[in-house]
Amino acid sequence: MSTKELYTAAAFTVALFLGASVVLAAGAHSGGHEDDDDHSTDDMLEGMRELHADHDHGHDFAAMDHISEDDMHRTLDFLVDVGLVVPNMDSQRGAELFFEKGCIVCHVVNGVGGEIGPSFNAADMPHPMNAFEFAARMWRGAPAMVAMQEDLFGEMIQLDGQQLADIVAFVHDEGAQSEVSADQIPANFRDLIP
Ligand code: HEC
Repeated sequence: MSTKELYTAAAFTVALFLGASVVLAAGAHSGGHEDDDDHSTDDMLEGMRELHADHDHGHDFAAMDHISEDDMHRTLDFLVDVGLVVPNMDSQRGAELFFEKGCIVCHVVNGVGGEIGPSFNAADMPHPMNAFEFAARMWRGAPAMVAMQEDLFGEMIQLDGQQLADIVAFVHDEGAQSEVSADQIPANFRDLIP
C-alpha cells in the first residue's frame, strides 16, 4: 500500500473520529493507486473538498483549517500505526458495480430498479451511515439473497472488499444516485425486473 493510500485510508478514519459523515477518501477519482509519497495533508484536504464539490453534504471543511499540518500528520501516523484501514470509497465506481453486478435487479435507487429487496435511496439511509452496519445487514439478508440470485442469475454475486466499499459509497451518495437512469441497466438484467 502506498503512503497516499495509507493516508487517505487514515483520513477517512479521522473524518469519522471528527463526527463528519462519510468522507470519500481523497484521490479516489484520480485512480488512487499511483505510488506518490509526496502528498501533504493540504493536498489530501483539497482532494476531499474536490470530491465533495458537486454534492451538498454541507461538511464543515473550515473546521479542518484549524488543525496544524503537524498535528494532522501525527494523527494520521497514529491511525496508520493502529493498523486498520478503510479503502478509498468511490461512489462512481460503486454506481457501475451496482448495475453490473445486478443489485439493481432487486434494490431500487432513486426510483430505478426492482423492488424485490429493500430500497437503497440515499436520502433514506441512516446519517451518518456506518459502512460495516450495511455489510452486517447484507450478511443477515444473505440466505434469502443468495437463494434468489442463484434462482434468477444462476449464481451468487461475487464481491471483493474494494467493490463492496464502492457500493456502500454509492448507496450513501444522493448526488451519484440522482444521475442514474433505467437505460444503464444491462440488457441481461432488464428482463429480470418484474
Ligand atoms: C435477486 C435479488 C437480489 C439481488 C440481486 C441483491 N439483493 Fe440484496 N436483498 C434481496 C432481498 C430479497 C433482501 C431481503 C432479505 C431478507 O430480508 O432476508 C435483500 C437484502 C439486502 C440487504 C439488507 C437490507 C436491510 O434493510 O436489512 C443489503 C444490505 C443488500 N441486500 C445488499 C445488496 C447488494 C449490495 C447487492 C448487489 C451486490 C444485492 N443486495 C443484490 C434481494 C437481492
